[in-house]
Amino acid sequence: MLEGIIEEILIKEEELQERIAQLGEKITNYYNQDDEIVMVCILRGGVMFMADLARKINLPVVLDFMDVTSYEGTTTTGNVRIIKDLEESIGDKHVLIVEDIIDTGLTLKHVINMLKTRNPKSIKVCTLLDKPERRTEKHVEIDWNGFEIPNKFVVGYGLDYEERYRNVPFIFVPKSELYEG
Ligand code: XMP
Ligand code: MG
Repeated sequence: MLEGIIEEILIKEEELQERIAQLGEKITNYYNQDDEIVMVCILRGGVMFMADLARKINLPVVLDFMDVTSYEGTTTTGNVRIIKDLEESIGDKHVLIVEDIIDTGLTLKHVINMLKTRNPKSIKVCTLLDKPERRTEKHVEIDWNGFEIPNKFVVGYGLDYEERYRNVPFIFVPKSELYEG
């Protein structure tokens, strides 16, 4: 079923899992062993990554979810609006934002700004994928990154094409026929 739509497998399942284990170890070592971390997954693309990463972090962890949508204002800066807010209060907590992919960086910039107003103890960012060529928000800092990828549309492991293929256990570049119908 997938054969006809894959142009290229960019990151295999084993590579993903190996890198996620490394990230989990780095994150575990960064914090103090009794620090509690609120992991904030940005829906829906970050779900698979959050689930696997959380199991590789050996610290007390609380899992929470946020859904945002971006819209263009009258300027080209864009903005994001919260569709589903966190359930947890993050005041005085260590927050770790978990993203599927950082592209322009606009989503992340706005999420960080919104969460900062709630006075967390710290805010860190872990993304599975980074497309540095596309970054417009140069000052947005990523603390942990799984893979730098070229400027190609990618799907799988949480990332979708029209809500499909999120359950594919690897990351692939779809054939252009997929969008051309
Ligand atoms: P920004 O530009 O705000 O965008 O950093 C981040 C969001 O854009 C989506 N995005 C992608 N989704 N394949 C996808 O399925 C891609 O190659 C891709 N590039 C960006 C994604 O929702 C991400 O959170
Ligand atoms: Mg999408």
